[in-house]
Amino acid sequence: MKHLGILLSGRGSNFEAIARDVEAGKINARIAIVISNREDAPGLRRARERGLKAVYLPSKGKDREVYDREVVALLNEHRVDLVCLAGFMRVLSPYFVRAFPRRILNIHPALLPAFAGLDAQKQALEYGVKFTGCTVHIVDEGVDTGPIVAQAVVPVLDDDTVETLSARILKEEHRIYSEAIRLMLEGRIRIEGRRILLEPPGPRPTSEGHS
Ligand code: GAR
Repeated sequence: MKHLGILLSGRGSNFEAIARDVEAGKINARIAIVISNREDAPGLRRARERGLKAVYLPSKGKDREVYDREVVALLNEHRVDLVCLAGFMRVLSPYFVRAFPRRILNIHPALLPAFAGLDAQKQALEYGVKFTGCTVHIVDEGVDTGPIVAQAVVPVLDDDTVETLSARILKEEHRIYSEAIRLMLEGRIRIEGRRILLEPPGPRPTSEGHS
């Protein structure tokens, strides 16, 4: 069974959506470890309540790569196959990205390449777009720039606030993140340049990798 590693810094609703789908057998994997750079991240508590291994790894005062080396060591110790960033508010160093080539996913609350970076929902509202959404992408060495695995479109309503728009986007985030993880774990994606193309589902593997 494949091992997932989840990195988060806050609320952890994307983590919970993934955990629910793992428990329901919709994602054929095990969450091997949850790591947070914030001790008070509600997602860390939620992970512990689910009986998962959840580790607070402080980043304060550490050089980016020094910190990332600690994270990578922990992920490797738990034999993680796929890393899922779920509201992890840190930019990864090239060292981290190279340690898990094409094996790190991120969820972003906008239709990339629009509104990369922080406060994407606020950026969309202020820009005046009529549609925004969310994106799951493979993490490369840029910020929110890697190949796109899945996107969902969400309309911006005239009476939307950042809160109402974020809530509507979040619902779609939970749906497409699980879907993207499933596709990655099933080896159903082919990368051609920036494009990710879907392979048809094959016969289910009988046994593979970790037990
Ligand atoms: C989500 O909206 C996610 O898309 C966003 O942080 C939120 C985390 O919520 N991520 C980014 O903005 C990354 N640049 P959660 O902790 O409830 O999953």
